[in-house]
Amino acid sequence: GSPSRYDFVIVGGGTSGLVVANRLSEMGDVTVAVIEAGDSVFNNRNVTSVQGYGLSFGSSIDWAYQTDVQKYAGGTRQTLRAGKAIGGTSTINGMAYTRAQKVQIDAWEKVGNKGWNWDSLMPYYKKSEGFEIPTPEQIARGADYYIRYHGESGPLKVGWPIMMTNSSMLPILDETFQKIGLPYNRDVNGGYMVGLTSHPNTVDREANIRADAARAYYWPFEARPNLKIISNTYANKILWANESNGEAVAIGVDVIGPDGGETIYASKEVILSAGSLKSSVILEHSGIGNPEILGKFNIPVVVNNPSVGENLQDQTNNGLAYEGTEFWLGSPTFSALPSADQLYGKNVSAVASFVNSSLADYAKAVAHSSNGAVQEANLLSAFQLQYDLVFKSQVPYAEIVFVPIAHSFSSEYWPLLPFSRGSIHVKSPDAAEPASINPNYFMFEQDLNSQADVARYIRNLFETAPLSDLVGDEFSPSLDHVPKNASESEWTNWAKSTYRSNFHPVGTASMLPRDKGGVVSPELKVYGTKNVRVIDASVLPFQLCGHLTSTLYAVAERASDLIKKQYIPR
Ligand code: FDA
Repeated sequence: GSPSRYDFVIVGGGTSGLVVANRLSEMGDVTVAVIEAGDSVFNNRNVTSVQGYGLSFGSSIDWAYQTDVQKYAGGTRQTLRAGKAIGGTSTINGMAYTRAQKVQIDAWEKVGNKGWNWDSLMPYYKKSEGFEIPTPEQIARGADYYIRYHGESGPLKVGWPIMMTNSSMLPILDETFQKIGLPYNRDVNGGYMVGLTSHPNTVDREANIRADAARAYYWPFEARPNLKIISNTYANKILWANESNGEAVAIGVDVIGPDGGETIYASKEVILSAGSLKSSVILEHSGIGNPEILGKFNIPVVVNNPSVGENLQDQTNNGLAYEGTEFWLGSPTFSALPSADQLYGKNVSAVASFVNSSLADYAKAVAHSSNGAVQEANLLSAFQLQYDLVFKSQVPYAEIVFVPIAHSFSSEYWPLLPFSRGSIHVKSPDAAEPASINPNYFMFEQDLNSQADVARYIRNLFETAPLSDLVGDEFSPSLDHVPKNASESEWTNWAKSTYRSNFHPVGTASMLPRDKGGVVSPELKVYGTKNVRVIDASVLPFQLCGHLTSTLYAVAERASDLIKKQYIPR
């Protein structure tokens, strides 16, 4: 048949890709194709079920990427979950909707990304959001908000699940936290995240189903004649024009679908939205990356940029669990977000000065582990900025979630801003083969120590009334495994042997100036190319204190406007 040709070809119909596809196809005179490896999950109960978190793990819609052996974290591999479906990871995630602390987004502009700050992103958080005003019943159970922070007419439904945990829970948590110095935060989504909160979720309350990227941005618009999803189709690499003086020009994408291999041609742009564990890998297979790495697999270098695939940042998750003295029903939405001051109390200055005095070593170690691909000086300034966010701006230092379900009361947590940095790189010339993924979990002492420190904070919390009245024995880790006055190393050994990824990988195609380790510009254009962008979690230059999707939807909304400005004559 005749070759497939579109104006815009988007690789990955996930959280970010579907936003871009929707907004670009609003321009009636352009055609948009989305290449997606997965299929529709519109009627998949593991996806739609509001209380079904985890049901899709290990199923055919979970990429279940494997990391390399984690040498600082007990020598095991981790499974990194990611959605393989129309809707991407938004179809399998935990649905928490929390944004970021204002200073974290402002930091993007501070490091050289002109135009990216909290105030310029806020209209796009709102544009994507269809906030559902809680019912009186939900308000009684803790749903709380300031309407000025929310958009009510965006496509993504955001609110509280129809069945929330009973109304005594939040006051009990609040009274307990007041005793240990953590105030209540009425609305976590206004740019100030510290405190105890009942956060909204990406949920369609009326239908009582998950609100994912496909339900928000694709299915209602499926009939647009200029928007096409090419599903069950895997993108291998970008194809380039033969002639280009200067910037590389993409002409299309090499894919393999149900009918075999073909080229999907793009007359305007190729946009990578395959997620932070994949977009940078596609760049490498397309010849954009570190010549030393590409050379090993005979991939011809199109753009020399050693930063591609570096700067990988993820978080580590552990949990404690208690026997409940009651029986609980409903979907819990309680999070505590203490700052370093609140977590460490009078010890905070000792911790701060230990971290401060380690920053130069951290920078040296990461530069070394990247074989010099990442510059030590760039790392040091990134680490100083992160230090300032944690210890001067006092952004949240950890998130702790509370899950009273049936006869148990468990609590998962993750330190929000580890210093460890890793990478993702190709390890085969064959694009169908997995890449080498190395997050370097617990590379630095403070990352591991904080994993122990938050656990102790939680144990102490559950021993504090009135929360202590709701629980009996701790059964995980249990006092047998980690005794009452356990040492730091008893806690860290437990953490290393039981942690998992928190599934928030970012940074592998960072938006930063090129000489500071960037892969994309503030227009999210890949340096050295004329018409390739990355729009997904890969571009976030630093980890955030919020869960990622709210910010990814906003970034994709803003990026779509930047693209449209270029194509709509004004
Ligand atoms: P995303 O993964 O959504 O999209 C990438 C798409 O590209 C996928 O559809 C994939 O199939 C496709 N693709 C990849 N390679 C391809 C190729 N070669 N060819 C064609 N298609 C390809 N966040 C949050 O806000 N609240 C939460 O509660 C949670 N909880 C949570 C739990 C779990 C288990 C996970 C794994 C993640 C979360 N997150 C979360 C994180 C959040 O869901 C995640 O960061 C974003 O959905 C990522 O969006 P992206 O657009 O970057 O990629």
